[in-house]
Amino acid sequence: MQNHETDKQGIAKKAGEFLIGNDLRVTRLGFGSMRITGDGIWGEPAERAEAVRVLRLAVELGINFIDTADSYGPHVSEEIIAEALCPYPAGLVIATKGGFDRPGPNQWVENGRPEHLRSACEGSLRRLRLNRIDLYQLHRIDPKVPAEDQLGTLKDMQAQGKIKHIGLSEVSVKQIRHARTIVPIVSVQNRYSITDRGSEDVLEYCEQEKLGFIPWFPLAAGRVSGSESPIGRMAARWKATASQVALAWLLARSPVMLPIPGTSKVEHLEENVAAAELKIDANKMQELDRMARAS
Ligand SMILES: NC(=O)c1ccc[n+]([C@@H]2O[C@H](COP(=O)([O-])OP(=O)(O)OC[C@H]3O[C@@H](n4cnc5c(N)ncnc54)[C@H](OP(=O)(O)O)[C@@H]3O)[C@@H](O)[C@H]2O)c1
Repeated sequence: MQNHETDKQGIAKKAGEFLIGNDLRVTRLGFGSMRITGDGIWGEPAERAEAVRVLRLAVELGINFIDTADSYGPHVSEEIIAEALCPYPAGLVIATKGGFDRPGPNQWVENGRPEHLRSACEGSLRRLRLNRIDLYQLHRIDPKVPAEDQLGTLKDMQAQGKIKHIGLSEVSVKQIRHARTIVPIVSVQNRYSITDRGSEDVLEYCEQEKLGFIPWFPLAAGRVSGSESPIGRMAARWKATASQVALAWLLARSPVMLPIPGTSKVEHLEENVAAAELKIDANKMQELDRMARAS
């Protein structure tokens, strides 16, 4: 598994499928496109042509669920997705988000005012060259604006046919329950990985309610990858890489789990997608859980 091949068409499908909102059938291993931007998630990526190659290869490898946001770049990630993949293949689900202003590199300022969300959604539709966004996620619930106003705006956009489904990001169980009294919610995107289990209660709620759980930072960047990490040493015994084990663990953890590892490099994409072929049985799961608790 450590030797990456480029002729592995469709292998992501081995991760199995999930129905988002009961009607969008996606391969459970998706792709996060925050990293196809410049430093600080700002401006152009160092190698735009490589970013285009990564996206096209992701689809060839069987990925049909791509996560992005208007704030990545800002705008750059959505523009590169359209450049690389439009006209989109049937069944490709692009999930985007709105709810942040970006004053500069590494700066993220919540903005859930209805006029901002409306123009953010219109901008995403334009850049992605879509008539309707399959999954539109509120990037954050802005504490300065009533949740009713933020989700009510998305509900209006949905009624106008501009959004198919609505998702949340970085929320508690209490916030999800409240949001669901305003509008149907189909997915939750929270930070979660084998070494970062703060959202365990949210995952359990999503499992119980059959909402998609989209863990961001699934590789916990440096902490998980690398052959010298505890997971790296365990992975070597299983003839896999640390990133592959971290992703396979997520896929095994819950049937509602939709990991979206991000990369700007073809080589890392091939490595990550090969995780779909790695099965984590109950013994390996226990071993990994013990290791993650100890680290
Ligand atoms: N909802 C939110 O608030 C939120 C926040 C952050 C992210 N997200 C979403 O979640 C996605 C994933 O999150 P993330 O990008 O922060 O975390 P991640 O996928 O865990 O890590 C990505 C980082 O790991 C590196 N990497 C990827 N594959 C690797 C491999 N096989 N070996 C070594 N390094 C590897 C990438 O660098 P290279 O480019 O060098 O491969 C990149 O720096 C994002 O793309 C975005 O769509 C959402």
